[in-house]
Amino acid sequence: MKEYKNEDIIVYWYPEQCAHPGTCLRLLPEVFCATRRPWVDVNAAAPEEIIRCIDQCPSGALRYSLPEGSSVNPEMAAGVGSIDNINNVSSAVKVKVIKNGPYLVEGATLLVCSDGTPIYEGSRIALCSCGCTQNPPFCDGSHRAKR
Ligand code: SF4
Ligand code: FES
Repeated sequence: MKEYKNEDIIVYWYPEQCAHPGTCLRLLPEVFCATRRPWVDVNAAAPEEIIRCIDQCPSGALRYSLPEGSSVNPEMAAGVGSIDNINNVSSAVKVKVIKNGPYLVEGATLLVCSDGTPIYEGSRIALCSCGCTQNPPFCDGSHRAKR
């Protein structure tokens, strides 16, 4: 996990969870730029814009929290992309089946191996449905090469 922060927002990046649909790159290219290092620039947009963008990340690879003293209204930072969101979601888990793509899981989820060992706990996951991922059970975007 990597962190990018300023005085108003902390952005967390879990690369192994990214399904690479590019939502963040499309919605906020000045902040999320795949060809720049570091690829996240939290100073390139208002923290509220970054929050709205991360709330759209389908895999939970991007998340946010507010540092002490942040100027952001905590209510607007309580969306599905919040690092604390697993505590706020309803008990019903939604699984969205994407045609020729991953299963998008939304809702408090504990993912375990066949022997019960926890792999991941969170509220957004993109699971591979095509068998091509190099990072099972997570979608890594490899399904695109199959089309
Ligand atoms: S899954 Fe999230 S982090 Fe990965 S490209 Fe899409 S929006 Fe960005
Ligand atoms: S569904 Fe995305 S890699 Fe398999």
